[in-house]
Amino acid sequence: MPNNSNDLNTKQNKEHTKTHHKNDVLWAAEGAQKLAPGVMAYLAGEDVVLDQALFVYDIQGTQAHLQGLAQIGIISESEYAAFIDALDELKTAFEQGTFSLDERFEDGHSAIEFYLTQKLGEVGKKAHTGRSRNDQVLTCLRLYMQDQMAVVKQLGIDAIEVLIELAEGHQDTMMPGYTHLQRAMPNTVAVWLLGFAESLMDDVQHLNSVMHLLDASPLGTAAGFGVPLQLPRAETAAAMGLSRVQINPVSAQNSRGKYELICLHALSYLLLDVRRFAWDLSLFMTSEFDFIQMGSSHTTGSSIMPNKNNPDVVELLRASLSVVDGAVQQIQSLLSLPSGYQRDLQLSKEPLIKGMQKTQATLALLPELLQALTFKKDQMKDAITSEMMATDQALEKVKQGQSFRDAYLDSKQDDELIITAEQSIDQRVSLGGAANLGLNFLRVRLEGLV
Ligand code: ARG
Repeated sequence: MPNNSNDLNTKQNKEHTKTHHKNDVLWAAEGAQKLAPGVMAYLAGEDVVLDQALFVYDIQGTQAHLQGLAQIGIISESEYAAFIDALDELKTAFEQGTFSLDERFEDGHSAIEFYLTQKLGEVGKKAHTGRSRNDQVLTCLRLYMQDQMAVVKQLGIDAIEVLIELAEGHQDTMMPGYTHLQRAMPNTVAVWLLGFAESLMDDVQHLNSVMHLLDASPLGTAAGFGVPLQLPRAETAAAMGLSRVQINPVSAQNSRGKYELICLHALSYLLLDVRRFAWDLSLFMTSEFDFIQMGSSHTTGSSIMPNKNNPDVVELLRASLSVVDGAVQQIQSLLSLPSGYQRDLQLSKEPLIKGMQKTQATLALLPELLQALTFKKDQMKDAITSEMMATDQALEKVKQGQSFRDAYLDSKQDDELIITAEQSIDQRVSLGGAANLGLNFLRVRLEGLV
């Protein structure tokens, strides 16, 4: 009976399982021909590599399924306990690198079942009762998305917090505000930074609603039509920390790829805001603007020009959206499918994982990058030229009783009414303006998003 958990990884065993799996996949039927050469590799594709990101979630989903089987008496309590122990061991071995998910297996799902069968013998063969790889893969992807979106959310919140802190310290740091990339009105660094903080809050709020949608279990829908067993679907959902069950099995199957798409869309809004911020940074770091300097911890040199100090990191932040947008496109074109499971859906894993990892890596860089910025206060202030106070002049005349349109025309010629940049900023008193940032409102909103 029980083998050592490492046995599957010994050389001999690798060879054994290799021949075993290539010729005798999980779904092999009695008397069927061997798969043609190359077919197995084509079927599996990158699956086994991608499944490394999903493996622990697949184990979690399998444990929940087994709990359901124990509850309805398909497996005994002692069998259930043996399964849970074996799966815990598999998880540990995988995390410690003593079990490797590799091309010996068609995918992570097969690896789990082969492991359980090796480990528990006859009992292991019961693990897949009432389950299909179709709901298995849906389940582990669901758990992956829930968990990884929560990581994205935390990274987003971390970035927002640093933006707010920086803004607090730069309430008096003036800079020109631009429209059409032309100087428009005086502004402050605080207003500019909080612009991104609040936009990122919108994105996090959207993540929350996506996570709410994802909070549903497809487990028990099997191949897409249910099974002739009384599976306790609500209980297995709860065992996985999911609060709802996807009721209809066809709908559950059809959510494969669609939920991935919804996730990637949500990620794209975060990166859209990061892209805009990175664009501003790259402009403000040029000697033409000369507003911002970035520490050498976050800039690069040139291989040929000793004088260069390049914003490669900022440019890669800007480019990260292209990866997620590409992933969205890839899944969108993949989803032109009839209802029910189709193997095409396997190809939605790669863009999901790629987009998720790119988003996390990008957001994770932001706090330190923000802290590496130096704002060149004098240059920024000097770039605020007198004509930028024209709107202030017009509104001053409105306060003296003129209509805005007359004051507007008047201010084009008026050299007498001098308003300084400081006065302009001090009078930006309506909520959100430089003299009334609404920091408390923003903080309260952020707390509500956590
Ligand atoms: N690797 C497959 C996928 O990602 C697993 C499901 C296979 N299901 C099937 N009916 N062939 O879709």
